[in-house]
Amino acid sequence: MTQRQILVTAALPYANGPIHIGHLVEYIQTDIWVRFQRLRGHRCIFICADDTHGTAIMKSARQRNCTEQQFIDEMQAAHQEDFAGFGVTFDNYGSTHSDENRQLCHEIWRSLNEQGLIKQETVVELFDSQSGESLPDRFVRGTCPKCGAPDQYGDNCDKCSATYSAVDLIDPISTTSGQPPVQGEAVHYFVTIEALHEFLDEWTQSGSHLQDEVANYLKGHFLHEPLRDWDVSRPAPYFGFDIPGTEGRHFWYVWFDAPIGYMASTKQWCAEQGESFDGWWKSPATEIHHFIGKDIQYFHCLFWPAMLKTAGFTLPEKVHIHGFLTVNGRKMSKRDGTFVMAATYLKHLNPTYLRYYYAAKLGPRLDDIDMNLEEFQNKVDSDLVNKVVNLASRAAKFVAETGLSATYPDDGGLFQQGAAASELIAEAYEACNYGRAMRLIMELADRANPFFDDAAPWVLRKDPAQADRVQEICTVALNLYRQIMVYLAPVVPELAEKTEILLGQPIKHWDDAQTPLTGSPVAKFKHMLKRVEAKDIQAMIDESKEQAAAAADAEADSSTPSTTTADSDAPLKAEPLADQCTFDDFVKVDLRIARVVSAENVPEANKLLKLTLSLGGDERRTVFAGIKKAYQPEDLEGRLVVMAANLAPRKMKFGVSEGMILASGEGGKEVFMLGVDEGGQPGQRVH
Ligand code: 2FM
Ligand code: ZN
Repeated sequence: MTQRQILVTAALPYANGPIHIGHLVEYIQTDIWVRFQRLRGHRCIFICADDTHGTAIMKSARQRNCTEQQFIDEMQAAHQEDFAGFGVTFDNYGSTHSDENRQLCHEIWRSLNEQGLIKQETVVELFDSQSGESLPDRFVRGTCPKCGAPDQYGDNCDKCSATYSAVDLIDPISTTSGQPPVQGEAVHYFVTIEALHEFLDEWTQSGSHLQDEVANYLKGHFLHEPLRDWDVSRPAPYFGFDIPGTEGRHFWYVWFDAPIGYMASTKQWCAEQGESFDGWWKSPATEIHHFIGKDIQYFHCLFWPAMLKTAGFTLPEKVHIHGFLTVNGRKMSKRDGTFVMAATYLKHLNPTYLRYYYAAKLGPRLDDIDMNLEEFQNKVDSDLVNKVVNLASRAAKFVAETGLSATYPDDGGLFQQGAAASELIAEAYEACNYGRAMRLIMELADRANPFFDDAAPWVLRKDPAQADRVQEICTVALNLYRQIMVYLAPVVPELAEKTEILLGQPIKHWDDAQTPLTGSPVAKFKHMLKRVEAKDIQAMIDESKEQAAAAADAEADSSTPSTTTADSDAPLKAEPLADQCTFDDFVKVDLRIARVVSAENVPEANKLLKLTLSLGGDERRTVFAGIKKAYQPEDLEGRLVVMAANLAPRKMKFGVSEGMILASGEGGKEVFMLGVDEGGQPGQRVH
């Protein structure tokens, strides 16, 4: 078999939260695939990194009163510990906030510029109506403009995977203040990806770069029409890399530099290993395989290949996409305690259980996988403990003194059948159809156990004349066990290591399942894997519930307004307080509550809305207010406002204005009308 050179990545986890069991579907799936490739004798490196940029991280660091660097360093250490705890073993784990990544971003940006694929445009974006801060996409939720799914983020929809701009959301709400955001303008940089449409058609629809359903989805949802320009910048303040030439003002959007992080992390590894970076990322000899979840296929299957193509890097051989995790048939829930952090799982349960269970559930398609906790316990107990480990523990003790028979006994063809299953099992692994691979392997265990049970060595061993037969039976059983363990090694590496110790032979290659061991010693059996205990599962769920409750309390505390506010002093500086006046001066202006009876556009005026205000009874006033850019007329009708009611009427181009309504702000979109608390009545005086 020719040796393949394979570079594998799993999606870079965001550095703004810990790893949970939902993330682990992907990291375990990928780690299994990498271990499988190595066992087959291929050269395979596994690259990952933390995804560290964006406003969310900037805000988290501020909240914790530390620098972004401190925040991401701490999170990275925690992520790496979690991954190691589950046996997910990377060749390099980097960070997108690295010199290597900055340099590669510059290189790719240069190529995009040289090929005329970058343009600037002024875009409307959302700002928090309370704090005035620009709202990153993930801080706005609303209804998906494409499929109508409620409560979606401002960048893409979990339900239909559409990507859009936060301003396109229907009924948006700022998650910072819980209020509808307001719109403002800023310059953004765009990649005109439509120029690569033909290439993307070809790349997504030919070969086997994508699962069929993904290729069809991309064709049906995006490639059937011109591709929208991709907004790759964010205005300051932002935690990320400055766009060259706009330092301090514009930054690359986190999704621009995140996939480049795959390369940057490889580059670090190459420097450490004395390998050529171009040998991996610019060589047709390398197969690049990305593993990702279905929510980020748009970025990986359209933008990413487009960037690679433009900058002359190797295109992915395949993007492997999986579904989400549900627990007990429902979305992971903090309230139910099913939103389990990796570290919490590890406190209560053995990682081998989860690796096996996920493998048994994973197929080659994008379907979600459900972790039913009862099934989890039963599946692990019945397959791994009862069928596999027990075979070793029952047989090993009878040959601890003698070792294995010198020649392999007649087993009725069982070992041969197992050896013949090799390619079928390998094909299933290669296609990420681990569920099928596990079924094929368990079929071998289902044949090995009856052989051992029927031969009943524990009975025969009472007769000294049967000693050789007992040794033969156990030689067969332990070889069948080892064969199973070779096939299972990518999934349960820890058990494979224990097997190596028990039988004194390393498991180095997939083909170790082709040849039985003979004449070798057998170590004293040491405990390998205990059954899953329901009480441990329960303890994990209980602890997860407690953590979620504690986090919710802390969140509530931190969002309680504090007595010392961090309000800006800019408004006062812009307009210092006026000279003192007397009370008599003050009461000269008659401020009254009024209800907006109707609000109309004044089509000829840029700024004005015509308001009809009621002061109670039949008292009506017409007021022309400069609030057109900040308010929609239909949102005003019925609202209570405060008006200066005794101002001399003013003749304007469009009619006579009989007063003013009270508002603050600089004008334009920055106008904030004064409201009236519940109970206020039109006509009441405001003192
Ligand atoms: O969706 C996510 O969690 C992203 N942090 C994945 C990034 S993958 C890659 F592009 F960097
Ligand atoms: Zn949608």
